[in-house]
Amino acid sequence: MHPATEALLRWYDGNAREMPWRGIRDPYGIWVSEIMLQQTRVDTVRDYFVRFMRRFPTAKALAEAPEEDVLKMWEGLGYYSRARNLQRGARQILEDYGGEMPRDPEELRRIRGIGPYTSCSIASIAFGIPVPAVDGNVIRVISRLRNYTGNPMEPKSRREIERMAAELVPAERAGDHNQAMMDLGATICVPGTPDCGRCPLREFCEACRAGTAESLPRLPKAKPPREIRYDVLLLRREDQTLLRRRTEKMLQGLWCFPMAEGFRTEEELGKYLNIRMKLPAEDLKTAGRARHVFTHQVWLMNLYAARVPAETPAPEGYAWIPVDRLAEMAMPAAMRIPREILQRGETEDILP
Ligand code: ADE
Repeated sequence: MHPATEALLRWYDGNAREMPWRGIRDPYGIWVSEIMLQQTRVDTVRDYFVRFMRRFPTAKALAEAPEEDVLKMWEGLGYYSRARNLQRGARQILEDYGGEMPRDPEELRRIRGIGPYTSCSIASIAFGIPVPAVDGNVIRVISRLRNYTGNPMEPKSRREIERMAAELVPAERAGDHNQAMMDLGATICVPGTPDCGRCPLREFCEACRAGTAESLPRLPKAKPPREIRYDVLLLRREDQTLLRRRTEKMLQGLWCFPMAEGFRTEEELGKYLNIRMKLPAEDLKTAGRARHVFTHQVWLMNLYAARVPAETPAPEGYAWIPVDRLAEMAMPAAMRIPREILQRGETEDILP
C-alpha cells in the first residue's frame, strides 16, 4: 500500500464523518446517496436520503412509483433530472439485471444517470472493487498532492489525474479510501484555504512543500450566471391557484406558477393575461419580488396577484390547484417565496 494511502486510512478511521449511508453495503442505497451528493452538500443530503429510502427502500419500489412522487421527495434538492434518471435507472435494474445492481463499473455505466464517477464510487463502496472515484474534491486533493498544474476540465489532464488517483487506491478498503479522499477534500483540503497544518497527507504533498496549494487546481474562470427576468402570477380562482407543469428540460415535470419572461407594467401584464392566456384578470396588483440562483441562471421575479372569475378554464398545460393542496405538488425551490406569499395570504387584502 502507498504510504500516503496508509496515512489517509489511518486518519479516516479516527475522523470519518458520520453519514446515514455509511456502513450500509446495499448498492441501491449507495447509488441513491451518490446521486444525491452530486452537486449537493452532505449536510443537505442527510435528511433527504433517510426520507427517500424510507419511501423507496428498493430499486423495485422506486421503479414502480409514480414519477410525481419521486419528484416530490426530491423537492428542494435541485437538479431534478437526477431524480428522473434515478427512476429510469431503477427500471433498467429491474428489466435488464433482474433487480440486482451489477458490480462491474463498466456495466454500471450502462445505467441511466451513472457516469464514470458514480460507477466507480458504487463499485468501490458497495463491492470493494479497487477503482478510484474522481469527483471535484478528489481532483483538488490529487492536483495538490502532485502539484499538478493541468486544467482538470481538459480530457487529457483529467486522464492524468485519474491515473494518479488510481495509483493510491488500495487493493482492500477501496471504498473507505475513496470516501476518505472525499472527506479530506471537504474538510481540510478545501478550495482556496486548505488547512495543511491538520492534513494527514502533509508530508507527501508536493504543493504544500512548494507553497502552491491555495492556487490549485487551476480551473478556468467560471462564467457569471445569466440573469433572466420573469413576471410571476399568483392567480386566485375562488380557493384555487393556477400552476403549470414544466415541459422544458430545466425543472421538467415540476410545477410552477405561471411565468412570462420579461418585466411588464401592471397594465401590460393585464393585457398579456387577458389576450395571450385568456385569463380575465381582475384587481391585478404587485405582490412582491423573489430571486433564485441556479448554477447557470439567476431568476429575477416580480410577483403579481390577481383574481379571475369562477368559470375561467385553465390554459393547455396548466391546472387549477386548491391553495391548501399546494404543499402536495412538486415545486422547485425557486417557487418557495411566491408559494409562501400566496399561502400566507399576503395577497388577501388584494384578493378576497
Ligand atoms: N461525496 C459524494 N459521495 C460521498 C461520500 N460517500 N462520502 C463523502 N462525500 C461524498
